[in-house]
Amino acid sequence: MALLQAATAVRERAYAPYSRFKVGAALRSTIGTVHVGCNVENVAYPEGTCAEAGAIAAMIAAGDTAIAEVLVIADSPDPVPPCGGCRQKIAEFAAQDVRVTLCTIDGKQKVMTVADLLPGVFTAAHMDRT
Ligand code: THU
Repeated sequence: MALLQAATAVRERAYAPYSRFKVGAALRSTIGTVHVGCNVENVAYPEGTCAEAGAIAAMIAAGDTAIAEVLVIADSPDPVPPCGGCRQKIAEFAAQDVRVTLCTIDGKQKVMTVADLLPGVFTAAHMDRT
């Protein structure tokens, strides 16, 4: 699976000296391009960024616009779930039925959808009063 290979490879490049928890993310856009990201921590801890945020930034920087599928991998006991902020970031660029595969490096996988991850998502429609 291309996304699994891409996320596994980019995870090795994570900069995680504080948590020692490396995360890799890969997404396939709706035009079929794969974009990757890893977590990049900072000594000022809240300034660190998640793997998913990196992959989304890479997609946007490449001029790509929409997510068709996402995969996240870490060395965790159970398949690593995106944090709350990343769930909202993914939902910005993915339809509710988009598949998000959560993985461990020893082969466990859990398949979810964007809707599973963020029920009741806040969208632009909630700001529409007209
Ligand atoms: N992290 C991610 O990159 N993605 C996730 O889905 C969960 C958490 C990172 C943030 C931080 O660098 C480290 O994992 C520990 O929280």
